[in-house]
Amino acid sequence: MTDIHEIKKKLKDLLPSDRYHHSLRVEQKALALAKKYRVSGEKTAIAALLHDCSRFMGREQMLEQALSWGLKPGPIERLEPKLLHAKLSAIIARCAFKITDRDILKAIERHTVGAGKMSRLDMIIYLADHIEADRDYKGVNKVRRLAAWNIDAAIVESTNSMIRHLIADGSPIFPEMIKTRNAHLPAGPLRREASRRA
Ligand SMILES: [Fe+2]
Ligand SMILES: [Fe+2]
Repeated sequence: MTDIHEIKKKLKDLLPSDRYHHSLRVEQKALALAKKYRVSGEKTAIAALLHDCSRFMGREQMLEQALSWGLKPGPIERLEPKLLHAKLSAIIARCAFKITDRDILKAIERHTVGAGKMSRLDMIIYLADHIEADRDYKGVNKVRRLAAWNIDAAIVESTNSMIRHLIADGSPIFPEMIKTRNAHLPAGPLRREASRRA
């Protein structure tokens, strides 16, 4: 069994204070969601605490580190190396925090842009990161309300918010985000589209 107190102690030394406190708030929110959606509290706490454990690095260091660890950053990741932090965090969780549980490592790796197929744990970490108590973007309360009764709808809503923000900002959209959004839409429109094409 992993010692959560040890993880917190080590994390506090590793991360800048604001990032450490963000991780604690994500843990708190993720544990509430885990209880509601019946996911292991221990796995949830570890994934939430470590989801940003590479955020002590700057953008350039992230790119260098990713290359030296054998990752193959795509064009959008090279343009915005901060997008690499989820993959780097999963590597640090495995190597420095000795986390071997695949579910936890996957949830850390997927927390920024999601994936076309996400486990409940992946969804909880992704959402908790977007709705922790200090998040204050337009529409955050709607995502919080949805998270309490329909986790798929909450994922769609928070992904919509991010995509809107990226468009307004003139930034590229990571294709995985589109997959995340589409995979969690209610079946209705997708089913109608499939039968229209059939
Ligand atoms: Fe993150
Ligand atoms: Fe985060």
